[in-house]
Amino acid sequence: MAFTLAFPKINISGENAINEMVMKLAGSEPGHGLIIADSALEKLGLLKPLCEQLDQSGLSYTCFNDTIPNPTVAVVDKAYEYFMESGASYIIAFGGGSAIDTAKAVKILSANPRPITDYTGVGMVKHAGVPLYAINTTAGTAAEVTSNAVITDEANKVKCVIIDSNIIPDVSVNDPSIMLGLPADVTAATGMDALTHAVEAYVSVGAHILTNHSALESVRLIAQYLPHAVEDGSNVEAREMMALGQFLAGMAFNSAGLGMVHAMAHPAGAHKNLPHGVCNAILLPIVCEFNRPHRVAAFAKLAVALGCDVSAMSDEEASIVAVNAIRDLNERVGIPRGFSGLGVTEEDVKQWVASAMADPCAGGNPVAMTADEVLALYMQSL
Ligand SMILES: [Fe+2]
Repeated sequence: MAFTLAFPKINISGENAINEMVMKLAGSEPGHGLIIADSALEKLGLLKPLCEQLDQSGLSYTCFNDTIPNPTVAVVDKAYEYFMESGASYIIAFGGGSAIDTAKAVKILSANPRPITDYTGVGMVKHAGVPLYAINTTAGTAAEVTSNAVITDEANKVKCVIIDSNIIPDVSVNDPSIMLGLPADVTAATGMDALTHAVEAYVSVGAHILTNHSALESVRLIAQYLPHAVEDGSNVEAREMMALGQFLAGMAFNSAGLGMVHAMAHPAGAHKNLPHGVCNAILLPIVCEFNRPHRVAAFAKLAVALGCDVSAMSDEEASIVAVNAIRDLNERVGIPRGFSGLGVTEEDVKQWVASAMADPCAGGNPVAMTADEVLALYMQSL
């Protein structure tokens, strides 16, 4: 069967990657730009160096700093109105998944009619829209690499998952120097999101030899460096390896797909506005335990990538060690043990089952789940 790989046209990674991006941008005489930035980063002053470099290069721009976690249709509409009023001919996204997903949505609306919810699903975006430069500030959702955008439809309490190669950023940037100031809890949650991408891609029905190496190397880097990045946010090596690890996970899942961890995490984010990475982290070992018997050899290889010595074990034994290692990593980086402590009840999760089963990520899971099985896993996650 034919297999499709899709990436940004250009990726720039490493310290001072933002300078490189601005030089490339200036050389292309791009016209006026719209920066769509994470509001928290703007308040912390982290956006300032980018603006200074754009100023020094003589590039004009307008800033939209009102992005929010779990971006909504209303926020996308507001950003789009800024885009239209500014007369921008390209977009720079600056932030994690929320800012970059908002920018991807505006990119869609720059060439296709509203509402943004019309593009939910796979391959619904007809025209690519204006160029998008995505500067990633977390490690991470890998939104700077992927064809996915997740927008919350507040009216219907559902997350709209848009998957289309037309929304892959034209240029993606991973500069670890802007990740040094991220708080430990955000580092842990976004890092476990990245691990979830790698693990789900590796055991997915869409897994392929062209994505498996990226997924395994991603798991190796995240297992080794995430605890160091959480314990000491100024550890440059840990930040750089996490930036690369999450990028590799993005390369893998963008083509191999995800699975029931993401499918079950999306309703939790839509209904309770909980951080995406925390939802995934709580669900990951529980869904892996369910999937493990159907992918024993793959989970055994994941155990090695997770840094476990399984040389004297059978694949069956090693695959169990892999699931336990994921649970241990959650514990080490301070992920909450379950959803109960986050205000989620049995009544809540019963209402999430249908959304999880209908989520576009569900189809990637190595084995289909019944509604009763999804509910049982949600109950375990409380
Ligand atoms: Fe994710």
